[in-house]
Order: sequence, then C-alpha cells, then structure tokens
Amino acid sequence: MNGKQVLTEDFQNIVEAGLPLDEFKGKSFLITGATGLIGSLLVQTLLYCNQEHAMDAKVYAMVRDTEKAKKIFGENPSGLEYVVADLAKGEIAAEFACDYVIHAAAVTTSKLMVSDPVGTIRTAIDGTEKLLKLAVEKKASSFVYISSMEVYGQPKSDGKTAEKDLGYIDIGTVRSCYPEGKRMCECLCNAYAAQYGLNVKSARLAQTFGAGILPTENRVFAQFARSAINGENIVLHTTGESEGNYVYTADAVRAILMLLVNGTSGEAYNIANEESHTTIRNMAELVAEQIANNQIQVVIDIPKDAASFGYAPPVKMRLDASKMCALGWKPTVGLADAYRRMIAWMNE
Ligand SMILES: NC(=O)c1ccc[n+]([C@@H]2O[C@H](COP(=O)([O-])OP(=O)(O)OC[C@H]3O[C@@H](n4cnc5c(N)ncnc54)[C@H](O)[C@@H]3O)[C@@H](O)[C@H]2O)c1
Repeated sequence: MNGKQVLTEDFQNIVEAGLPLDEFKGKSFLITGATGLIGSLLVQTLLYCNQEHAMDAKVYAMVRDTEKAKKIFGENPSGLEYVVADLAKGEIAAEFACDYVIHAAAVTTSKLMVSDPVGTIRTAIDGTEKLLKLAVEKKASSFVYISSMEVYGQPKSDGKTAEKDLGYIDIGTVRSCYPEGKRMCECLCNAYAAQYGLNVKSARLAQTFGAGILPTENRVFAQFARSAINGENIVLHTTGESEGNYVYTADAVRAILMLLVNGTSGEAYNIANEESHTTIRNMAELVAEQIANNQIQVVIDIPKDAASFGYAPPVKMRLDASKMCALGWKPTVGLADAYRRMIAWMNE
C-alpha cells in the first residue's frame, strides 16, 4: 500500500470502529492546532466522513498560517473554513456556531519549551481559557482538551499509572512549563465544567505518531523513521532509558472523537496502547532490527549542550488505559506497524 492508501485505510478504520456519525451529522466542529499532527488528522477525518459518509459537518480549522493549511488540506475543500488566530495573542473572532470544540493547539517542540517557556505557558493557559469562554458563549455541547501523559511527571510507583496517579513535577526546571501548563489547563477545563456547566473532558495522549505526520515533523519518532528510510544509524542524545507508552495516530483520533460524545465531564482519560510500552532505547532497537532489517545500528552520543534540546526528564511510566477502554475504545495498531504505516506515508 502506498502512503495515501494507508491514510485512507486509517480514516475507514476510524469510521468502521463505530464513530458516532449520526450524532455528528450536520454539526459544526472547531479544531485548534489544525496544521499540527493531531489537529490535521482530526480535520481530515471529519472531511473524509463528509465526503464518504455524507456527514455534512462544518469544520472550522483554527490556524495561524493559512498557506501552511492549504498545503495540507488543499485549496478549497468543501465543509472547511479557516479561523485565523494566534492563541498567545489577541482575541478569537468567532462569527460561527460550534457544537464541538477540540483544542489541540500547544507548543510541542522541546527546544521552544526551553527557549520560550513564558510563551509556552501563555499559549497553554491564555489559549485554553479563550477557547473555554468561546465554548460557553456558543453553548457548545462538548469540548475535548488534548492533554498529555506528561502531566504525570515522575510516577510514584512502578505499577500502572491511572488517571488519579499524578506524580512529581519539578517546577524549578524550565521545561516544566509544558507539563505544568497541561495540568493547569486541565484544571481550568474542570473549573469551567463546575462553574459554567461546560461538558469538557481531557484526553491524556501517550506519545502519538503514525501515517499523516507532516514533512516538518522532527520529534524522535520521525527521526528514527528517517534513519531507517535513509539507512543511517539512529543516534540517541540520551541513554534512552525513559520508558513510556505509545499510541497510533488513527487510534488516538478515534478516541478523541469518541470522547466528544462519551465519558464524564470534568474527567481525564489516558489514551495509550498498553502493549506499545517500551524504552526509547528499545524502540530505537526495534526500528533498527524490524524496520531497517538490521542494516542500521543504534548509537548513543550525548551532546555537551544536551540541556538546550529540552528533552523531557527520564521517566518510568506504564499507562493504564482501562478507563478509555471501558468506553468501548480499543487500540488496534502496535509499535512496529505504526512505524511501517508511518514510513509508507513518508515515502509517498
Ligand atoms: N503527538 C504527540 O505525541 C502528543 C503526545 C501527547 C500530547 N500531545 C498533545 O496533542 C496536542 C497536539 O499535538 P501535535 O502532536 O499535533 O503537535 P503539533 O506540534 O504537530 O501541533 C501543534 C499545533 O499547535 C499550533 N500552535 C502552537 N502555538 C500556537 C498558538 N500560539 N496559536 C495557535 N496555534 C498554535 C501549531 O501551529 C500546531 O498546528 C498538543 O496539545 C500536544 O501537547 C501530543
């Protein structure tokens, strides 16, 4: 299968796994971070449902750069409109109705988190509050805030980490602007649920990747995939002992869309494939062995200025996804297949 076929199959699988098409029919969606990995796939999934399943939804994609957006979504896809806004500055001009809001915009680049921690926090807190206010004004029926497994910090035990098991975050380190910002945004969401009756849930994503990544993507999963494609050794800038969970993009998109109509307001849900649990080092080995057929090796080379890269502190985390699974969600793509599908897409 070529990359486009893989992505289309992902959209089909999202629908066939029980997407609430009837509920979504004719509704309007506001998606922030629409030129990012998760946001762009959410928008494309909804447009696919319009095209193939006559869902007739209106999709408002919040972007800062419409030219970048047009490269992803094409010149004039039917059902799509752009809302141009920078969440760290100014207000959102919103002359539209919105039934559902998915807030996926955030600073996600580790280097930016350490070079612009104030901007990282402002984008998170100010941006999330603007959207929550908007959702209340528009009487949105549901809001999903995209959070992260990083809210857990250092888990307290070696056991599974469920939604109540928040660990330790050292707020004295600059990079904590990201996880601490996520915590405050979740808290703000819950405050809007309690005070204004907004139906809002937080989706705590494990590291998410797969088909549909953007050409500019530079997170570790994309770097490993590029090494496999180019037949170059994978160079780790840490010892790679950090241990966590992963989830395939289409599985995450399906969970997020499910949360719009399921789940309890004011609550958080881990979105992780429990079986896709490994250390960075072992994931690099998996790519070298199973994806690059042992033609490349994993090399550790820790740079002197490693702190400026803004890598997350090493953790040992095993996410418990049972709360999300109890809503009827089940991840379908494991780690090796996630790499195969992502590489098919990258090779397109
Ligand atoms: N991909 C993952 O592995 C992962 C894991 C856990 C959590 N998340 C969360 O999921 C969400 C989406 O992440 P992603 O992987 O798509 O990241 P991404 O970097 O691909 O996308 C982020 C988007 O946010 C937008 N953005 C940043 N600052 C903005 C601002 N000031 N105003 C308006 N838009 C702004 C960017 O333009 C981009 O479109 C984020 O909240 C992220 O923290 C992602």
